[in-house]
Amino acid sequence: MLRNMLLFVSLTAMLIFAVTTVLAYEVPDKVLIERPKGNQKLNSWVAPVSFPHGFHAIRLACRDCHHKETDKTLGKYVPCRQCHTDDDPTAESGFYRAWHSPGPPSCLGCHTQMRSEGGKNPVGCTTACHKPK
Ligand code: HEC
Ligand code: HEC
Ligand code: HEC
Repeated sequence: MLRNMLLFVSLTAMLIFAVTTVLAYEVPDKVLIERPKGNQKLNSWVAPVSFPHGFHAIRLACRDCHHKETDKTLGKYVPCRQCHTDDDPTAESGFYRAWHSPGPPSCLGCHTQMRSEGGKNPVGCTTACHKPK
């Protein structure tokens, strides 16, 4: 009995180890996207965005959005905010353009493009993303 239990425990430990080494990265289900500290609000109604990340990750390829990942860095997913910090809304790698530039991988860019192809993707500023608190 005790031997069986020990065997069970060590097999479980081996399984957990195998799973965690294969899944070297995690895929968060929800991500709250907030402006970096000191970054100017462009409009009074701008609120943090609750992003259904898992919902997207099962429908799209990781690299559709994580555009700086290469085969070498794949598995070390870094937040967009690590690079997209600039306060200037016209800066190419600024905070604003990461989410709003006209094409993917920006949120609005991808949604607008898919809308034009008949998708149902939400595009309203306050109805889709910046929901008032
Ligand atoms: C629709 C675009 C999109 C897709 C598809 C996507 N992600 Fe993300 N991911 C994001 C955004 C946006 C964030 C939040 C970045 C931020 O907060 O600056 C994020 C955050 C993450 C984070 C957290 C980074 C951190 O340390 O905060 C991980 C890990 C991650 N994604 C992995 C994945 C993996 C793995 C896949 C594919 C299975 C994937 N993502 C697919 C857009 C996407
Ligand atoms: C390692 C740094 C880095 C990370 C991480 C990163 N980006 Fe970028 N991104 C850049 C740079 C630099 C540019 C400028 C053009 C280029 O080099 O591709 C850019 C350009 C863009 C553009 C085009 C902007 C425009 O108006 O032309 C979008 C949209 C974008 N990134 C979205 C994202 C999103 C969304 C994420 C996270 C899922 C992300 N980026 C993660 C560095 C990064
Ligand atoms: C590369 C394309 C792409 C990007 C980038 C993208 N989305 Fe989406 N988004 C989708 C698709 C596809 C759907 C599902 C549309 C449908 O069901 O017809 C969706 C749906 C949604 C929904 C509705 C979810 C639901 O439950 O119906 C929200 C909210 C959303 N996206 C927010 C965001 C935010 C915030 C970002 C940026 C951080 C983002 N999306 C970036 C493709 C994208």
